[in-house]
Amino acid sequence: MEKTLVLLKPSCVDRGLIGEVVNRLEKKGLIICGMKMIQLDEKILREHYAHLVDRPFFPVLAAGMMATPVVAMCLKGLDAVEVVRKLTGSTNGRKADPGTIRGDLSMSGSQNIIHASDSPENAEIEIKRFFRPEEIFDYMPAYLKFLYSEDEL
Ligand code: PPS
Repeated sequence: MEKTLVLLKPSCVDRGLIGEVVNRLEKKGLIICGMKMIQLDEKILREHYAHLVDRPFFPVLAAGMMATPVVAMCLKGLDAVEVVRKLTGSTNGRKADPGTIRGDLSMSGSQNIIHASDSPENAEIEIKRFFRPEEIFDYMPAYLKFLYSEDEL
C-alpha cells in the first residue's frame, strides 16, 4: 500500500485544529502508520523545501514552519499520495475548493494548515526525512475488508 507524508503546520497546531484535520484523514480511511510532534529547525527546512530556498518568500515560509512544533504523520492507503493531496486542496486557502482542508480551514497561501507529499517518489524521501524506520508501524486495521473490496487489495 502507498504511503505519504503529512505535516500539520503551526497554523494547524496553534489554532487547535489538529483533531479536526486528523479526523478528516482518518474518516476518509487513511491508515495512520506514524505520528509525532516535532520542532523543525532551519537545517531540516532547507532540506525539505530545497526547491524553494531561493524564492523570496522562503524566510517567511521557514519562520512560519518554526513558530510552533508541527505534527508529522505517515499515512497509508491505495493511491494515498493523490488522495491526501485532493483532501488538502490547492496551496492558497482563499482559492482552495470548499470541502478541502485548506478550503475550509485556511485564508492564506502560507498559513495553510497542512503539507502533503506531491508524488510517491517524494513521499518516500519525506517519510525518511521525518521518521526513523522503527517509528513506522505497518499494521492493518481490523476493518480493512470494509475499507476496500477484495479485488482492490
Ligand atoms: S504546492 O503545494 O507545492 O503545490 O504549492 P506551491 O505553490 O509550489 O508552494 C510550495 C510551498 O510553499 C508555500 N508557499 C509560501 N509560503 C510563504 N509565503 C508564500 N508567499 C508562499 N507561497 C507558497 C506553500 O504553502 C507550500 O508549502 P507546502 O508545505 O509545500 O504545502
